[in-house]
Amino acid sequence: MTVICVGSVNIDHVYRVPHLVRPGETLAADAYAKGLGGKGANQSIAAAKAGATTRHLGRVGPEARFALDQLAAAGVDVSGIETGEDPSGHAIITVDPSGENAIVLFSGANHLLSDTRVEAGLAGFGLGDTLILQNEVNLSGHAARVARQNGLRVVYSAAPFDVDAVEEMLPLIDLLLLNEGEAAALETALNREISDLSDIETVVTRGADGAVWTFAHGRIVQPAFRVSEIVDTTGAGDCFAGYLVAGLDAGASREEAIERASAAAALQVTRPGAADAMPSIGEVLRFLKARKL
Ligand code: RIB
Ligand code: NA
Repeated sequence: MTVICVGSVNIDHVYRVPHLVRPGETLAADAYAKGLGGKGANQSIAAAKAGATTRHLGRVGPEARFALDQLAAAGVDVSGIETGEDPSGHAIITVDPSGENAIVLFSGANHLLSDTRVEAGLAGFGLGDTLILQNEVNLSGHAARVARQNGLRVVYSAAPFDVDAVEEMLPLIDLLLLNEGEAAALETALNREISDLSDIETVVTRGADGAVWTFAHGRIVQPAFRVSEIVDTTGAGDCFAGYLVAGLDAGASREEAIERASAAAALQVTRPGAADAMPSIGEVLRFLKARKL
């Protein structure tokens, strides 16, 4: 079936810095690179590399030709991405020597999606197909409502975290993806434990502490895979999300889907960049095989 991502496409400007910039400081970068990013595009690339038939719906400006080419080269159907005159979304990303980052985001075209475009892009999909969403476009809620009506599985990564957005999305989704910071923020906002959200499934990623999938009849704990060197964590959560939905789409068990997603994210952080760093399914399977020997 098909994985459809309604989500952001960004141009990432990535600066390697000796430390994350402090208030009032002027900091010289050691290196600069431009690449494809945006949580949506990153998820689409990851899902396609994991083997899913993937379609991206979004909006870019005239300077994002390379982004469309890169998505298409990874096998993503880009026919539902509109190009306008307004500038593309972009991100200023600084990465310190430990691989930690700080991101300034300009939404640009990502916030100019039209509902007719989203509706047209979702038409013809239904039971068995999966929609994945995040918080970097203006119409996540609308897309979730349309998809739900049409019987798609709706997966939502609550990133970047926005409490109003999550509250709008909760009744509309099947699976909620959170990192530990987002999980803590949501528990505080709702004054409830994530594990009490019994009408939806949740997957919480906790970095080195692994990932936990909670569902009506149980819980799966996937330990994190260790890697020798963390180069850049940008897009690792998106990699996890893309691989996870691709696994579900392919009919994998939760155990297998979360294991592959964790392995993919572990590989992703060993490479610079966001979309550029997504591993292929072959690399992920080799990595897992080597760990099991
Ligand atoms: O999750 C990483 C992404 O966040 C980057 O690619 C950047 O574009 C921001 O959207
Ligand atoms: Na990376």
